[in-house]
Amino acid sequence: MPHTTEKRAATARISTNLSGTIRVPGDKSISHRSLMFGGLASGETRIAGLLEGVDVLNTGKAMQAMGARIEKTGDLWIIQGVGNGALLAPEAPLDFGNAGTGSRLTMGLVGVYDFSSTFIGDASLSKRPMGRILDPLRQMGVQVKSSDGDRLPVTLHGPTSANPIRYRVPMASAQVKSAVLLAGLNAPGITTVIEPVMTRDHTEKMLAGFGADLSVETDRDGVRSISLEGRGKLTGQVIDVPGDPSSTAFPLVAALIVPGSDITILNVLMNPTRTGLILTLEEMGADIEVLNARRTGGEDVADLRVRSSELKGITVPAERAPSMIDEYPVLAVAAAFAEGETVMLGLEELRVKESDRLSAVAEGLKLNGVDCSEGEASLSVRGRPDGKGLGNAAGLAVETHLDHRIAMSFLVMGLASEHPVTIDDAAMIATSFPQFFELMTILGAKIERMNE
Ligand code: S3P
Repeated sequence: MPHTTEKRAATARISTNLSGTIRVPGDKSISHRSLMFGGLASGETRIAGLLEGVDVLNTGKAMQAMGARIEKTGDLWIIQGVGNGALLAPEAPLDFGNAGTGSRLTMGLVGVYDFSSTFIGDASLSKRPMGRILDPLRQMGVQVKSSDGDRLPVTLHGPTSANPIRYRVPMASAQVKSAVLLAGLNAPGITTVIEPVMTRDHTEKMLAGFGADLSVETDRDGVRSISLEGRGKLTGQVIDVPGDPSSTAFPLVAALIVPGSDITILNVLMNPTRTGLILTLEEMGADIEVLNARRTGGEDVADLRVRSSELKGITVPAERAPSMIDEYPVLAVAAAFAEGETVMLGLEELRVKESDRLSAVAEGLKLNGVDCSEGEASLSVRGRPDGKGLGNAAGLAVETHLDHRIAMSFLVMGLASEHPVTIDDAAMIATSFPQFFELMTILGAKIERMNE
């Protein structure tokens, strides 16, 4: 994505009776990892259901720049990987656009190689903290050149032979866990990541599937130790990427808050490290029926039938944050239509996402008439179930700060608010959910984009 994309405003208006059956695109976390691990493994990897969002496509380009052969045939992505330890030095800076996952995991993957690699990104990514990845890489012997305060652009140069480490992840972050494990793939001996709070486990599951020698131990307090033997062989796999629960969250919340709705979302990933939003909404009184629960390629998958519901405010415990970290903006929208107060705790990581999501959400809610208060790491929202007075009659736009999830969340809000809700820029939605407008329109949502 060019970094100077023109801003495209969009407006959502009150809608009724959302209905129909949709399939959301593939999970973003699994899609990034499929391209990375397929590009690294020996032989062929075939991927069905890949998310073709800009973030994921940038990861594919980075893997191509390091020697992987990637092509699309029909609906399948087919990769010929280089073999573990055999990535090539990229000739130009690797541009990850808006993507934290793409850039951070790739820093781990290639940073330990004895050549230079440079990482760049858009204005949002260039503000995000990279020290959380660079610190463990420094311990592994990687030389780091970065601008101000460990932000992008960053240039890495690995040692002749990387030092395997034992690393306790200081914050709940699957990206940090994953970056250290991926660096460990090219370090002789055992790299161990200690994870005090469990985060999404796609890296460890998928690496094991590609043949990595990896073991996970969980102690009595739930602390996980993931150990990986470096320099082993990875072998290409066949992958079917299930639907993204984080993208599912938008039509799902829309159906709950728009009166008379009854929709079905097919093939949704139900990995327990990702289902915190569903649990929370159920506690709030949401009518979400889990249908055809099944296992596909080692993951839990189901179809979800969602009907309009009378929601009630609850307190969402801090421990649940890792299993719904990307879903707080849209949960805050659901809370704006719930009876009473919803209190969300343990939100410190929201400050360092594609935007400072905590303040972006609070400001957007206030602009649209919602009574809410922002704490250092918490958000309280007092709802208005009938939507009266919500929205912005003057057409003032929510600032989305290059954040796709802020953009989609506020468009969902407009579907049940008395007045329209406008966002300043819808362009970033293409990073994770390119079919958002099309699918929401199929369901009957009234959303318009400007400058078409
Ligand atoms: C992701 C991990 C999470 C999440 C991001 C995807 C991943 O980030 O917010 O959208 O695929 O590993 P953190 O590791 O910063 O929590």
